[in-house]
Amino acid sequence: MTIRMGRKEMKKRRIELAILLLLSGCMPEKPSAQAGLPDQNSKGAALVMGYCTECHGAPNPSAHTSSEWAGVVERMQNWRITKGFGAIPDKDMGPLLDYLKQHGR
Ligand code: HEC
Repeated sequence: MTIRMGRKEMKKRRIELAILLLLSGCMPEKPSAQAGLPDQNSKGAALVMGYCTECHGAPNPSAHTSSEWAGVVERMQNWRITKGFGAIPDKDMGPLLDYLKQHGR
C-alpha cells in the first residue's frame, strides 16, 4: 500500500471538504436560487428555501417517498426548535408537506 495520494484522491478530498463546509454553514455563499427543486417558482419550493436551508442545502423532495416525508419533517421541526430557529407555523406546515409529498419519489 502506498501513502501517496493520487490526483483523483485529492479531488475527492476537496469535494468532501466543500461538502463539510457547506454543511457547517461556513461557505461564504449559500445557494440562493431554488436551483434543483422541482416546480421552482411554486410556494412549496419557496417554503423549502425558507425553512429548510439554515442547517444544510435545500433538500430535494425526491430524497424520500411521500409517506416518509411527514416523519422527516417532524424531526426537522424538532431540530429547528432545539437549535432556536423557531417552529414552522401550522399555516406553512401544510403547504410545505404537500409540496414535499407531491414531489416525493
Ligand atoms: C435547525 C437545523 C435544520 C433545519 C432548519 C432543517 N434540518 Fe434537515 N437536517 C438537520 C440535521 C441536523 C440533519 C442530520 C440529522 C438527521 O437526519 O436528523 C438533517 C438531515 C436532513 C435530511 C437527510 C436525512 C434524511 O432523513 O433523509 C433531510 C432529507 C432533511 N434534513 C430535510 C429537511 C427539510 C425538508 C427541512 C425543512 C422542513 C429541514 N431539513 C430543515 C437539521 C436541520
